[in-house]
Amino acid sequence: MKELKIQPIKNGTVIDHITPGCALKVLKILKIPEERSHSIVSAVMNVKGKRGKKDIVKIENRELDPHEVDKIALIAPNATINIIRNYEVVEKHKVVVPDEIIGIVKCANPNCISNTKEPIQPKFVVKSRKPLRIQCFYCEREPEDISSRVV
Ligand code: CTP
Ligand code: ZN
Repeated sequence: MKELKIQPIKNGTVIDHITPGCALKVLKILKIPEERSHSIVSAVMNVKGKRGKKDIVKIENRELDPHEVDKIALIAPNATINIIRNYEVVEKHKVVVPDEIIGIVKCANPNCISNTKEPIQPKFVVKSRKPLRIQCFYCEREPEDISSRVV
């Protein structure tokens, strides 16, 4: 029997090579389904790719803004963003974790200055990329599960 595959899309964005199991977190970052939910979205989890298991999210007729891509980089550091126009992949970018992560990850330390009433945005610096380890610029706390702290 022929294997059932998700269909190619005509126009939009394919987020490929998502860490297996993380597709729902990507959808949450993209505010699906709360907002702008008119686009057709498909997600598959744990499909076999060339380099092992992965998740894929396809969003028709929508391109992502850079802030959304930065957030995706933190939960799925190996993801690629493919822009599709008229069925062709016209752009392909690997997500990049920025050197300084500002306003994306919330510090786990309740006493951190970024968690007080001070108007200070959370800021993290990258300690290592593989595996990804980041540290709070203010209190030096390292979040254990980064993806659960993405806001
Ligand atoms: N894709 C799609 N609709 C299209 C074209 C591509 O949904 N009209 C999807 C493919 O299924 C794939 C992703 O977009 O998940 C990237 O497509 P492509 O670059 O053709 O695949 P690969 O060469 O396998 O990508 P990579 O080398 O990044 O793994
Ligand atoms: Zn902190």
